[in-house]
Amino acid sequence: MIINKKLYKYIKNIIYSKEPNYLKRIRKKKYKNINKKEMSDLVQGRFLSFISKIKNPKNILEVGTLIGYSSLCLSEGLKKKGGLITIDKNKKFIKYARKNINKTKYKNKIKIIYGNALKIIPKLKIKFDIVFIDADKKNYINYFNLIFNKIRKNGIIIIDNVLWKGLIINKKKDKFTKIIHSFNKKLKKYNIENSIIPIRDGLNLIIKN
Ligand SMILES: C[S@@+](CC[C@H](N)C(=O)[O-])C[C@H]1O[C@@H](n2cnc3c(N)ncnc32)[C@H](O)[C@@H]1O
Repeated sequence: MIINKKLYKYIKNIIYSKEPNYLKRIRKKKYKNINKKEMSDLVQGRFLSFISKIKNPKNILEVGTLIGYSSLCLSEGLKKKGGLITIDKNKKFIKYARKNINKTKYKNKIKIIYGNALKIIPKLKIKFDIVFIDADKKNYINYFNLIFNKIRKNGIIIIDNVLWKGLIINKKKDKFTKIIHSFNKKLKKYNIENSIIPIRDGLNLIIKN
């Protein structure tokens, strides 16, 4: 969490977007071998849903499914005939995600692909309106390069963890902080516009020009 916990709690209480019950159940449930800190929380989930509802996308791509919480949040704004593809390289996580998603009205709209996103993305022949990148940080720049030509003009790219627990501003940076910092700086050379949203671990909200 980057911002003061009390302030975050205040934000949580003042967000009036209602979280659907199936998402609440997913969030509250205990999963073996799942670190809940890895998944989007209520505030981030409502934000993803909000962006999706504004954009009303036909196609969404998510890199990093975990248990499907963010996939479901992003799906809330999909067009009637739209769909979301989510990729994860962990079989156990995908099993949980499939179970969670199958209990919702989005079960036919969300396609879960098992495997290494670096190998799968190049095979996708779809143009996307929203891409959410939330997998291993060292490959963020590779994911970004792979998806950039697959995103429509004015499409939205959302990147998680870009403020890295707030450590990003430290003069002396550890290995992971350096990776994220270097990624953040590299985006300058792309034809994009962006904003940083300091919720949770920091989201980079990007529009492709
Ligand atoms: C932070 S979690 C995703 C959280 C989820 N998006 C959410 O907000 O609830 C990151 C996920 O990325 C997956 N992952 C890491 N490297 C990957 C890769 N190369 N290809 C596909 N998935 C990967 C991990 O297995 C993990 O489930």
